[in-house]
Amino acid sequence: MSDLDSQTAYWDASATTKTFTHPLHMPWLDGTDRHAAVLDYGCGYGRTMEALLQQDFNNLSGVDTSPGMISRAGTLHPTMHFAVLDTPPMLAYPDASIDVVILFAVLTCIPSNDAQRRLVGELSRVLKPGGMLYLSDLLLQDDERNRDRYARFAERYGTYGVFETGDGGVCRHHSSDWFTSLLADFEIADIRRITVATMNGHESAGIQLLARKPTRPAH
Ligand SMILES: C[S@@+](CC[C@H](N)C(=O)[O-])C[C@H]1O[C@@H](n2cnc3c(N)ncnc32)[C@H](O)[C@@H]1O
Repeated sequence: MSDLDSQTAYWDASATTKTFTHPLHMPWLDGTDRHAAVLDYGCGYGRTMEALLQQDFNNLSGVDTSPGMISRAGTLHPTMHFAVLDTPPMLAYPDASIDVVILFAVLTCIPSNDAQRRLVGELSRVLKPGGMLYLSDLLLQDDERNRDRYARFAERYGTYGVFETGDGGVCRHHSSDWFTSLLADFEIADIRRITVATMNGHESAGIQLLARKPTRPAH
């Protein structure tokens, strides 16, 4: 992954100040065994893991490229398991060892198509056949401020929807078709639209997808 696809310094600088808000829709996980191995990829300060702990999930691990985020997570949740990812998206988990992957507001931090595809491939590798990927991310917005910045930065970054945040980050908003193409090797179990407060205080349209790794590889 290029530096642009992890931006560790930016996320380290944000580690103590930013609040993340994508909601965890518990009905999607209600039928999941509470001992299931859950991996929160790009876990930040452990927000969604805390929500899962409250629902009695007891096999939770979180990884993130930002040592600052992982340090805050460890302080807030001393009994949970966190690790810093040095060579994203490579994970130190064996093939087919994870039941559920949580991927919340992480693709928005990864501007390039290739890096997003590599990440999803790695998540698929560690997921058990039949395991679930629960993705939450931001859609292309249709207001003028966002359309302006998509247009302004499209040439520099080569992808419509990638933009500079103004405080040192580069983020991406996506078409809903992009997510379905990214998850083409998965079976989509459910999709929901959400509205989220972004970390810089704006209301944005988002999407959540619950995707199952097929029990047999696609031909
Ligand atoms: C917007 S925050 C979301 C945190 C958490 N998932 C939540 O919803 O509360 C994005 C997180 O992804 C991490 N991140 C960014 N690029 C990453 C990458 N390529 N691999 C792993 N983590 C990454 C950042 O350090 C940050 O903690």
